[in-house]
Amino acid sequence: MTAQILDGKALAEELRTSFRARVDALTAQGHRPGLVVILVGEDPASQVYVRNKVNACEKVGLYSEKLTYPKDVAPQVVLDKIAELNADPKIHGILVQLPLPSQFDADKVLEAIAPEKDVDGFHAENVGALMQGNPRFIPCTPYGVMKMLEKGGVDLGGKEAVVVGRSNIVGKPMAMLLLAQGATVTVCHSRTADLKFHTSRADVLVAAVGRPKMITGDMIKPGAVVIDVGINRLPPEQGGKLCGDVDFDSCKEVASLITPVPGGVGPMTITMLLANTIEAAERKAGL
Ligand code: GUN
Repeated sequence: MTAQILDGKALAEELRTSFRARVDALTAQGHRPGLVVILVGEDPASQVYVRNKVNACEKVGLYSEKLTYPKDVAPQVVLDKIAELNADPKIHGILVQLPLPSQFDADKVLEAIAPEKDVDGFHAENVGALMQGNPRFIPCTPYGVMKMLEKGGVDLGGKEAVVVGRSNIVGKPMAMLLLAQGATVTVCHSRTADLKFHTSRADVLVAAVGRPKMITGDMIKPGAVVIDVGINRLPPEQGGKLCGDVDFDSCKEVASLITPVPGGVGPMTITMLLANTIEAAERKAGL
């Protein structure tokens, strides 16, 4: 069997096109959606992600601003800026790019963002709402994965879903969303004793560990749906290319549906950030 490829780039483009009318309607009524992205330090991967987020906003017609701080900035400076943005009616979404340098308490920063502007869905209040099955904002990467599963016609009811990775950004919210759709969910992580035992039982496998090509074809069930959240850069001696957590070449011969890297989940993450920001503006405008 050769798997069908779930094209995240095409779906992202389709969704972004559909967002334009909503952005235009909001803008015409004086509620142009606005997003501020805060970047602290010079982490090269974060710089690329932030630039892509701001560019995507511009293309769809949102207002966006990138605020950058040196890596040794005092946390209070960032907290004061967040307080100012919380009160700014032009701004509907505030995103602080993670990870933050070590002098920061990341939870404290995330809690400082007004929950109705927390388009990442990382504020404790929004995490709680998601757990209760009543989300205000769904974290962008797992939200993008759910949209891709929907597009692929995957019915999750009664399926075995395995998430590899337990981060607050992807693994944990991913598990909640799959559970809400009726899947039986297992969360594996770096201390899981027998990873292959779990992955080979998965009807739907989501890999979000940050280890290049860790999931190989012999670890998955024939006909499985394989979603690759990983974005890893291979070392120069291995070609320096981007690759996922899934070994695409071996898994595509076993899976029924698979996402590529690049062109899979990545473009969907940014798209769902736009969706959350537009949604925040619509709520504020009473639409
Ligand atoms: N770092 C890696 N992924 C993300 C994300 O989705 N949001 C933020 N704020 N930081 C990240």
